[in-house]
Amino acid sequence: MSKVQRKRKRLFFVVVLGLFLAGIAACVSMKDTKRESENAKLPVIEGAKYVGSQACAYCHQDVVKDFSASIHGRIAAFEIKPSTEVRGCEACHGPASKHVETGNPQYIINPAKLKPVQASAICEKCHTDKETMDWRGSKHALNGVSCIKCHSIHGKKDKLAYRDKLGYRHKHMKDVLLVKPEPELCLSCHKDIMAKTNYPNHHPVKEGKMTCSDCHNPHGSQVNPLLRTDERKNELCLKCHTRYQGPFTFEHPPVVEDCTICHEPHGTVADNLLKQNEPFLCLQCHGIHFHANLRPDTGTIQSNPHGSGYTSVVPHDNSMQMVMMTRCTQCHSSIHGSDLPSLSIPGGGSRFTK
Ligand code: HEC
Ligand code: HEC
Ligand code: HEC
Ligand code: HEC
Ligand code: HEC
Ligand code: HEC
Ligand code: HEC
Ligand code: HEC
Ligand code: HEC
Ligand code: HEC
Repeated sequence: MSKVQRKRKRLFFVVVLGLFLAGIAACVSMKDTKRESENAKLPVIEGAKYVGSQACAYCHQDVVKDFSASIHGRIAAFEIKPSTEVRGCEACHGPASKHVETGNPQYIINPAKLKPVQASAICEKCHTDKETMDWRGSKHALNGVSCIKCHSIHGKKDKLAYRDKLGYRHKHMKDVLLVKPEPELCLSCHKDIMAKTNYPNHHPVKEGKMTCSDCHNPHGSQVNPLLRTDERKNELCLKCHTRYQGPFTFEHPPVVEDCTICHEPHGTVADNLLKQNEPFLCLQCHGIHFHANLRPDTGTIQSNPHGSGYTSVVPHDNSMQMVMMTRCTQCHSSIHGSDLPSLSIPGGGSRFTK
């Protein structure tokens, strides 16, 4: 066998093995989906019928009173799918005739006592589009964080305090029945993020100017990790930071690829939410360069009277120091991309100096 043939044969085996593994994976994931919908099945109360919300008032006066003013108490028939014709208390608690007759809690569904996937399935009878469209595959759904870990149907009255219990301010967003206001809600589970929101540089989340859910959709997303965008991670950032929306004549590849190569959105010790300070940030990818004709006293570049520029031989001692002491962006100031050719420096635009 020639070398090429042997290579081909090996390639053939790799492809066959790949297809085989993909097949197994598909079977397993089909099984997972099936198991998932088995788990989501709600308990059945044998022999119970729907009786309507009025029947609850006699024993649950307070709940009924608050409920009629709430969004779920005011749902009109046209707002729900024909397949879920039931409205009122029993839309979530199931047919209640047996419970009403006996007052026995065993004959009524309490979502708080169900498995997370079952509790969420109750809400999914009606909420499967828009905001909650990608719920099923989301990290929250898959890790047992159900709808009612974050939402409280029967209301918590203290949610509009100006500061949450962590002392963070919060945005007065529309009332979406949250158990706690953001960011406290999210930070009560995501402690590692909490530390970052307190670093010297951070997005103004704890100041109440924005929320975690401005950037994340807690209900799921096509873009990991739960990002509030349908496209690429960068589109999220560019929604607010429009001036770095290219295309520029001179692009800087990592900027086009992913803002989070250099930035950590939750908070950093370094300025400008940079993962590392300059020059170290830049030196991950670039070699250090010296300007023999860099004037150590002023930090400016002397133009070379002999024309060709910056290819000089031995670096000046101080020029090394200069590069390490100054921020690279002092000279390469348009690090996110540039349209302007620099007049003073050869190849200026492509060097992001202007
Ligand atoms: C005859 C009185 C009575 C009526 C009518 C009644 N309930 Fe109850 N309900 C009770 C009692 C008693 C409990 C148990 C209270 C407790 O454990 O604190 C209860 C508990 C519940 C629970 C919690 C069950 C649990 O496992 O914790 C839910 C949910 C509930 N009722 C919903 C309803 C709904 C919905 C209606 C109307 C369709 C209704 N009830 C009508 C008496 C009643
Ligand atoms: C949109 C879904 C939904 C509707 C509609 C609804 N509930 Fe509930 N109910 C829940 C959930 C979820 C819980 C579990 C505790 C929680 O999240 O507040 C609950 C808990 C309860 C409880 C247990 C006691 C408690 O407060 O924890 C009672 C009683 C109750 N509901 C009665 C009612 C009655 C009466 C109505 C109609 C007037 C009603 N519910 C309508 C979702 C609903
Ligand atoms: C019978 C259908 C139905 C069920 C079941 C249901 N909802 Fe709703 N819900 C609605 C409708 C209709 C609205 C109002 C329109 C909208 O926002 O989609 C609504 C609104 C909401 C809102 C937004 C409130 C606002 O002010 O914008 C939240 C949050 C919510 N539901 C959570 C839940 C949760 C959690 C459950 C499960 C415990 C649940 N819903 C079960 C129909 C339902
Ligand atoms: C990890 C927390 C979390 C979980 C889990 C969660 N939600 Fe939400 N939900 C939120 C937050 C935060 C908002 C407010 C976001 C915003 O500003 O739109 C919200 C908003 C909503 C809204 C209002 C959307 C709108 O803009 O009109 C609905 C409806 C809703 N949630 C339903 C659900 C349902 C149904 C589930 C379960 C399938 C669920 N949520 C699970 C945190 C959560
Ligand atoms: C009840 C606890 C709980 C609450 C409340 C909660 N989360 Fe989560 N969250 C989890 C768990 C558990 C996971 C999955 C495990 C993990 O990746 O940390 C998760 C995963 C995530 C992820 C994906 C992480 C990844 O690596 O893919 C994001 C993003 C996230 N949560 C954001 C939020 C936001 C924003 C809020 C508030 C609106 C919130 N969470 C509220 C428990 C919670
Ligand atoms: C400015 C937008 C933005 C805000 C505000 C924001 N996040 Fe994120 N978050 C991101 C991005 C982008 C990533 C992905 C980071 C990466 O890939 O390096 C992420 C990642 C995460 C992760 C995955 C694990 C990790 O550490 O990367 C969690 C959990 C999370 N965010 C929770 C939160 C919580 C909780 C809040 C509110 C306190 C919040 N985020 C606020 C943009 C944001
Ligand atoms: C919802 C709007 C919004 C989104 C989305 C957003 N930002 Fe921001 N960003 C802000 C606001 C507001 C500030 C604070 C501006 C100020 O204080 O003047 C900020 C500040 C910054 C800063 C400067 C921090 C400093 O120290 O001055 C950087 C860097 C930044 N954002 C990067 C990002 C990146 C990367 C993303 C995507 C992961 C992103 N932003 C997504 C709103 C947003
Ligand atoms: C190669 C690393 C790198 C990448 C990738 C990068 N940045 Fe930056 N960014 C920087 C540096 C360095 C600074 C601080 C110096 C400066 O402002 O020129 C900065 C500063 C910022 C600031 C704060 C200064 C201001 O203009 O308000 C924002 C906002 C910002 N970047 C957004 C973004 C966005 C959005 C993306 C993705 C499209 C991105 N960055 C990608 C390196 C990067
Ligand atoms: C993740 C890797 C990465 C990081 C971090 C990075 N760059 Fe770049 N940079 C590139 C790539 C790739 C190119 C295009 C290929 C090339 O010409 O080297 C480039 C091009 C450049 C150019 C133009 C080069 C030319 O020949 O025209 C300059 C100037 C530059 N980067 C400066 C910086 C500075 C300053 C920083 C820090 C703020 C930085 N880069 C951070 C990867 C990176
Ligand atoms: C004092 C101003 C100045 C500083 C500081 C500076 N540069 Fe430059 N850099 C220039 C100039 C001017 C050019 C274009 C002339 C040339 O090609 O030599 C250049 C060219 C480059 C190039 C293009 C490739 C090359 O060598 O020609 C890269 C990459 C680069 N710099 C990265 C960096 C990094 C990384 C830092 C920080 C460690 C840095 N620069 C600091 C002025 C500076």
